[in-house]
Amino acid sequence: MAEHITIFDTTLRDGEQAPGYSMNLEEKLRMARQLELLNVDVIEAGFAIASPGDFASVEAIAKTMRHCTVASLSRALKKDIDCAWEAVKQAQRPRIHTFIATSDLHLEYKLKMSRQQALDQVASMVRYARDLCPEVEFSAEDASRSDIDFLYDVIETAIESGASIINIPDTVGYGMPEEFGALIAKIMNNVVNIDKAILSVHCHNDLGLAVANTLAGLRSGARQAECTIGGIGERAGNAAVEEVVMAIRTRPDLYDFSYDLKTEELYPTSRLLSSITGVAVAPNKAIVGANAFAHESGIHQHGMMANSKTYEIMTPESIGLKKTTMVLGKHSGQHAFVRRMEELGYQLTTEMASKLFSDFKSVADKKKEITDRDLIAMMESGTQAAPKIYELVNFVVNSGNNMTATACVTLKRDDKRMQAVEMATGPVYACFKAVERIIKHPYVLEDYQLRAVTEHRDALGEVLVKISDENGVFRGRGVSTDVIEASMLGLLAAVNRMIEASEQNLSLPNQEGFLSAGAKAKSWVTLSQEALSRDMKVSGTVKEDVTKEL
Ligand code: KIV
Ligand code: ZN
Repeated sequence: MAEHITIFDTTLRDGEQAPGYSMNLEEKLRMARQLELLNVDVIEAGFAIASPGDFASVEAIAKTMRHCTVASLSRALKKDIDCAWEAVKQAQRPRIHTFIATSDLHLEYKLKMSRQQALDQVASMVRYARDLCPEVEFSAEDASRSDIDFLYDVIETAIESGASIINIPDTVGYGMPEEFGALIAKIMNNVVNIDKAILSVHCHNDLGLAVANTLAGLRSGARQAECTIGGIGERAGNAAVEEVVMAIRTRPDLYDFSYDLKTEELYPTSRLLSSITGVAVAPNKAIVGANAFAHESGIHQHGMMANSKTYEIMTPESIGLKKTTMVLGKHSGQHAFVRRMEELGYQLTTEMASKLFSDFKSVADKKKEITDRDLIAMMESGTQAAPKIYELVNFVVNSGNNMTATACVTLKRDDKRMQAVEMATGPVYACFKAVERIIKHPYVLEDYQLRAVTEHRDALGEVLVKISDENGVFRGRGVSTDVIEASMLGLLAAVNRMIEASEQNLSLPNQEGFLSAGAKAKSWVTLSQEALSRDMKVSGTVKEDVTKEL
């Protein structure tokens, strides 16, 4: 009978550690809910001791998940383990994931420890964790570059001390598939008590081999795969969950395994991650990239028409990409709109449906055909949980190749309208300066991305804006047939989140005892000084309360 593979998702821990992928609590919760829909077995929700924000997210996810195991990472140190346990203890199925490096390189230069000291630490800390939590996973960091006999001792000790999952990371992505597969086989054959634990693999992608190494590890006896959505993670990332699972699904002749993951949720999960983080999925990304099921060449299209198996080894439907024959336009009614949204995987409340349908109608007035990608973009920007503090009333821009751009922007807060005029080197920049003048809150523009949602001339423009202040990083997304309007909507969504955080005085609480407190505080000082010394200064005048005039 096919043996079961546990899918351990570390998008919210190893994935979130990658630059550009950081998420706030609300975003991590949305992602975790989707991961539970995807039906992963384990969610590694974070590294609880890393910061108060990490702790709060792990705790919130632990309280919210109904059936997934929720794990927190922790070094093999009492204070880390205590913190991890505090964060996960309310989960239906809590897990402490504790680790220590086992390669001589890490022991000598990073931990400054002998092998014996590391071994003692494994014994005492795994036992300590096991006394708190019913399920303990132990990872031997840099396992693939560790002395193999020492690695056997470490694993045996960890199991003896109460770990029921032993994870073998290829931390720096150094392993080759045959070699990594052989390492797992050797562990299976040489560690005397290995039958009392599940062996897990955790592969990094520095040489582009994370998925190949993961599959090799599974073939050799590992029964847990640690992966992330889209393969995001430290440096070149981790093994991509969609690639590992679809390889198993597509090649049961080689991988005779069962899994609980709902592959039909892979595409929506990838979309959600991209929509939350603003990092686009590469078009040629295996399984979930925009071109993964596109057949451009005539020969391929001909083959596909004759029999889709000629060029397609899996169906778009198997990953949750639904084909449609229905085209929506300005004559479509709310019923058809809601039905298509459901087919795309979105369950709308009545309130969301009427708000989105009204967005849809205004886009349909300007754009003849509304494609699925338009609907997804509208959904992702229209339902973002940004508070409505400042609202756009109107804007006028004057721009050209031989002139300085000018923007006149009117915003509304409660019933008060405020207007500012700004000049800058471009129309978007002028608008952003005008908004900043009105809100009187300096921020750093961290990132701005503009893309066309579809290929056609009347495509919707989608803008992603990332700004920061002393309370953190805030994102916003805007969609419109007018790219300046999309930019303004994206900026205002981010600004409203920033203002809400600042008005609720969500400044970082006392961070004593957490890992990165100093680093975070320092980076903000640098950012804010930079911001203030550049063009972010708020000075000059704003025409306030212009209600009567407009
Ligand atoms: O890559 C790695 O070694 C890790 C461990 C901490 C599990 O992420
Ligand atoms: Zn890792």
